[in-house]
Amino acid sequence: MKVKVLFVCLGNICRSPTAEGVFQKLVNEVELKHKIHVDSAGTANWHEGKSPDARTVAAAKKRGVELADLRARGVTLQDFYEFDYILAMDESNLAHLQKMKPDNFSGTLALFLSYGEQTEFKEVPDPYYGGADGFELVLDLVEDAASGLLDTIKQHRLT
Ligand code: 4NP
Repeated sequence: MKVKVLFVCLGNICRSPTAEGVFQKLVNEVELKHKIHVDSAGTANWHEGKSPDARTVAAAKKRGVELADLRARGVTLQDFYEFDYILAMDESNLAHLQKMKPDNFSGTLALFLSYGEQTEFKEVPDPYYGGADGFELVLDLVEDAASGLLDTIKQHRLT
């Protein structure tokens, strides 16, 4: 059985696709693709079927992460029955997911940055209405937390 990881933000066109792409790349690099499944979704489904934001795609590409083929979707109740880790980008996403969560969900629902080493940020700030710096910050925070998450999964779920 694969360990399944779902990253969740608001629109599923900036932060959570970045997390999906960065974490997927890491998983591929350590040859755990057959053991770890990665996906992302939004608490809102406004952008259903759309590619990630062009600024997100461009910023990720500069770091060797290809996001263009991803498509946005809304998070569903079914996700709680499929995924082992549901990781929110900010407190608002987390609150939304906590309300949706069925009582018998046995996985981990947490803030994604709780797996990071840096301590300055607890949430991934929404870059949508800001400048280019915001997209770089998203990548910095996501890269940090992605490597901590991979270590945790390797230690607790794949041994
Ligand atoms: P995301 O960013 O939650 O990181 O995908 C946003 C994308 C779109 C909107 C807000 C945040 N929006 O208002 O459409």
